[in-house]
Amino acid sequence: MSVLIKGGRIVTSADDYVADVFVDGERVSLIGESLDLDADRVIDATGKYVLPGCVDPHTHLDMPFGGTVTIDDVESGQTAAAFGGTTCHVDFCIQGKGQSFADALSDWHAKAEGKQLIDMGYHIAVTDLSFDGALEELASLPERGVTSYKLFMAYKGALQVDDETLFKAMEVAAGSGALVMVHAENGDAIDVLVKKALAEGHTEPHWHALTRPPETEGEATNRAIQLARVAGCPLYVVHVSCREAVEPIAAARAKGWDVWGETCTQYLFVDYTFLERPSFEGAKYVYTPPPRDKANQEVLWDAVRTDVLSAISTDHCAFRWDTQKSLGRDDFSKIPNGGPGLENRLQMIHHFGVREGRITLNRMVELLATSPAKLFGLYPRKGTLAIGSDADIVVFDPEKRVTITSSDQHSKVDYNLYEGTEVVGTPETVLLRGQVLVTGGDLVGTPGIGQYVARARFGGELTRAGQPVAA
Ligand code: URP
Ligand code: ZN
Ligand code: ZN
Repeated sequence: MSVLIKGGRIVTSADDYVADVFVDGERVSLIGESLDLDADRVIDATGKYVLPGCVDPHTHLDMPFGGTVTIDDVESGQTAAAFGGTTCHVDFCIQGKGQSFADALSDWHAKAEGKQLIDMGYHIAVTDLSFDGALEELASLPERGVTSYKLFMAYKGALQVDDETLFKAMEVAAGSGALVMVHAENGDAIDVLVKKALAEGHTEPHWHALTRPPETEGEATNRAIQLARVAGCPLYVVHVSCREAVEPIAAARAKGWDVWGETCTQYLFVDYTFLERPSFEGAKYVYTPPPRDKANQEVLWDAVRTDVLSAISTDHCAFRWDTQKSLGRDDFSKIPNGGPGLENRLQMIHHFGVREGRITLNRMVELLATSPAKLFGLYPRKGTLAIGSDADIVVFDPEKRVTITSSDQHSKVDYNLYEGTEVVGTPETVLLRGQVLVTGGDLVGTPGIGQYVARARFGGELTRAGQPVAA
């Protein structure tokens, strides 16, 4: 199968020019002016942007959490992703307490079996290093293409690890070439604040934010940075939400330390007041870290513009409002933590970031595709449009007006964080490795076409033939 995409404006993190793209099989074969080639399918991209498929480095599909399971499995979550222009993501495989990493990974691979519409890899979420051989097994995971270790510094009694476990994982990563990711909040302090609030009779959703003040995120971010420095491993701080966490990341990066951070779409748009919406509607915005005071949004836009933060993910962790968020109707601490967003990241960042002049088009591609691909060992196979790269391509209509609403979305969740928001610009056609996945509002790809991607070690590259090469 060959595809010729004609006359589009090709935008990568570095370039912006009008040309044709010829795809032969799964990869980009040629890029040039007025290519005169026969193809099985010709796509007229005049007036459109031709972008690399977006890469989402932070999702939770089919994940048990908060007494329930995230509502989007691999098929529905990846369908939402495909409509949103995301063609590759890295999901979290959670190690059960005492479980070997191999068993955890086979559980997660089984969940994806036959359901994949886009390509995906896994981070391993480490919850227990206390069994014999745990450190050695963790060290061996990069050989299987699992090249990032995630540790939760919060969610006491569930996913939280102590500093000993965090530091041991960091030491392993320093030797194995993995990137350490942290959910940075001080879970012990938060646990005290939650218990106190409940004892005082505070049960409503906004207490989720009042018991997780920004200082608890700032403290944990700084602690993780300092520990990573001692261990000598690279560090990536997920879902940065506030100034208190941005500042230590900025300071570390200014010193040239191997520290990176991401924020998520929702922190740029949803603020604390959403949690105060009446009739339990605030529960829709219970995710962690919580929505912050609005002033943080300009701090985050500045940070993504200046590369203090290097990626924007979704942290898609969707729970239905009617049947799942309702677990916490009488107790905010029982509301499953997480929000949806896989389908709307590109639309929202394009409209409010690029169209409103906060970031350039090149920077948008860098934040949503190129940097995540580089940081997580997928580049240059993913994250750019170049000869030999996977033909993961978004033909994006920059002028189409769309009103975001849950009734049009492809996730199984029953609300949208950006309900009623009008955006200009949306994906029109999405290709995965040369196959049309979505076009004109229809899903054309079938489950099973997506693949697991073994990623390269931190700083290494994934060759265009898909072989990880050492850093
Ligand atoms: O509330 C959130 N973010 N849920 C997903 C798990 C996590 O902390 O990333
Ligand atoms: Zn987290
Ligand atoms: Zn998450």
